[in-house]
Amino acid sequence: MAKIIAGISSSHVPAIGAAIDNKQTEEPYWKRVFSGFEKSKKWMAEAKPDVVIAIYNDHASAFSVEMIPTFALGTAAEFPPADEGWGPRPVPVVKGHPELASHIATSVILDGFDLTIVNKMEVDHGLTVPLNLVFGSPEQWPCPVIPLAVNVVQYPPPTGQRCYDLGKAIRRAVDSFPQDLEVVIFGTGGMSHQISGPRAGLINSKFDKAFLDNLTRNPKALARMPHIEYMREAGAEGIEMVMWLVMRGALDEKVKEVYRFYTVPASNTAVGHIILQNGVGAKKAAAKKAAPKKKAKAKARKAA
Ligand SMILES: [Fe+2]
Repeated sequence: MAKIIAGISSSHVPAIGAAIDNKQTEEPYWKRVFSGFEKSKKWMAEAKPDVVIAIYNDHASAFSVEMIPTFALGTAAEFPPADEGWGPRPVPVVKGHPELASHIATSVILDGFDLTIVNKMEVDHGLTVPLNLVFGSPEQWPCPVIPLAVNVVQYPPPTGQRCYDLGKAIRRAVDSFPQDLEVVIFGTGGMSHQISGPRAGLINSKFDKAFLDNLTRNPKALARMPHIEYMREAGAEGIEMVMWLVMRGALDEKVKEVYRFYTVPASNTAVGHIILQNGVGAKKAAAKKAAPKKKAKAKARKAA
């Protein structure tokens, strides 16, 4: 059966993509950002997921303001990089996983989430920048990626609770897929930032760090946070963080925080990144199961 082994969240700042494409990653300003992802690249190289499910948002690249799906699942065999005004990014075409994506569509829709199914879609920096951050810049992406775009551009975006519950539905879908696949789910966007208006440039590190703490330990509290609190504390574009809750909902209640990185700024955005691993509860349960056997063996030795 397929299983979700871990969740990863990271900001998807477009300037990070531009720094990669323009070979500026060694410049001191950018080195500070990229050095925070070195451990993650190593972790990913060892984890070697069979499939990535990437929760991200489209920035009027695949969808214009004429059509804004709340949740759009990419079921295509491939997703070319979008032209965001400077030509498509020089990154590999994202290969999809149509079988798993179709299964997720069926399972999640029958579970009560009315996904939009997208059979043809270009993907923008919201998806390709996080891929770069954890996979580097390979000739081909090392595994298929299923994109799931969430509307956080035009009001109203889905609630944090709805995103968290969607994550749970995705988990049920993956768990019921008959192939043995190890899946990593990404939540992208954020952290605090506002790109226009009187509060442009807003960064709230205290809020961001508390969000990261709660993402690991108390995601249910985060799921209850209303939109207005994201707007007030994390800026207008901070609402992107609801996408991290889709990722978190797909994980176990108890997770192991493998790694965390936070730096400000990148462009005008706070950069946050976290790796959460599943299976902590399972390991404890296995250890508990094994413990009585050990006790029994010790008893038997004593008796002998
Ligand atoms: Fe974004």
